[in-house]
Amino acid sequence: MVSFKDLGLSNTKKMFKVAQERKFAVPGYNYSNLEQLQAIIIGCGETNSPVILQNSPAAGEYANRAMVRYLGEGAVAMAKNLGYNIPIALHLDHGNSFELAKICIDKGFSSVMFDGSHLDYEENINITKKIVAYAHEKDVSVEAELGVIAGIEEHVEASEHHYTDPDQVEDFVNQTGCNSLAIAIGTSHGAYKFKVEKEEDIPELRFDILEEVRKRLGKFPIVLHGSSSIPQKYAKIINEYGGSLSKAFGIPEAQLKKATQYGVCKINIATDSRMVFTAMIRKYLAEHPDQIGPRKYLGLARQELIDMIKQRNKEVLGSADQAKYI
Ligand code: 13P
Repeated sequence: MVSFKDLGLSNTKKMFKVAQERKFAVPGYNYSNLEQLQAIIIGCGETNSPVILQNSPAAGEYANRAMVRYLGEGAVAMAKNLGYNIPIALHLDHGNSFELAKICIDKGFSSVMFDGSHLDYEENINITKKIVAYAHEKDVSVEAELGVIAGIEEHVEASEHHYTDPDQVEDFVNQTGCNSLAIAIGTSHGAYKFKVEKEEDIPELRFDILEEVRKRLGKFPIVLHGSSSIPQKYAKIINEYGGSLSKAFGIPEAQLKKATQYGVCKINIATDSRMVFTAMIRKYLAEHPDQIGPRKYLGLARQELIDMIKQRNKEVLGSADQAKYI
């Protein structure tokens, strides 16, 4: 058993308090391999942004759950080695049971999510509450979810979207004691978020629901999942080099930026990182058929992801240069 504090990690409490006050969102970037993790640390370190490193249950299995803890510790060491002074949280994304949350907490995660959004209201409350009791003994933060965010996120698949009911949020937060709440206002997981023909037809998120939730919860931290923007330049590269992504559209950056002004203080991005990696690797291998060195194509993808993360932190989430306040 190890505490996140011994690994040099931070929980999300101060991050969210400062994000609320200063109206920005802390990035929750998902990763499943070393190069994505390095890109997140460098991208956030170079922009002086706090960061939440996220692992879904499937990504944890892929990397090996014992390894994940060391990757978190390694991320802290790497940041220090590069001279960055940023708070780093290690977070279980879409945890699906008390048992998994406990394993992660005992291995040094500083934050865990329980996604009980597919369960009935009372069951979601009961399991979240049990996790909160265990996590809070160790000062670990807990994110909960209310409303169903459609799409596929590794272990979690939902075909129907159910917007969060603002009338439930206060009771849910009070009963569970969670530290932050993920809500459904029209974002969804994966590369296909909208059934539209072109980018201009992407609908607005339900800012009316966000406003209502905000009214009920005051300064309580709100989280947006499913917030990749699906940059069309990467979709184009993927398609040019043998892939097939058709009508894949994401959340426009302007809408994410707007959400940070309405109390959203964590924004989750996973699919964009996959798009960057797939696009750059497809292109490199097609253009260099004689090359076999993984450092070449993974390194190229890593650099591209660093650039994307820097741009997001600076221009969309507003998290650049905020680390010093935490
Ligand atoms: P995207 O699929 O939009 O990147 O969402 C990721 C996410 O919400 C992880 O929890």
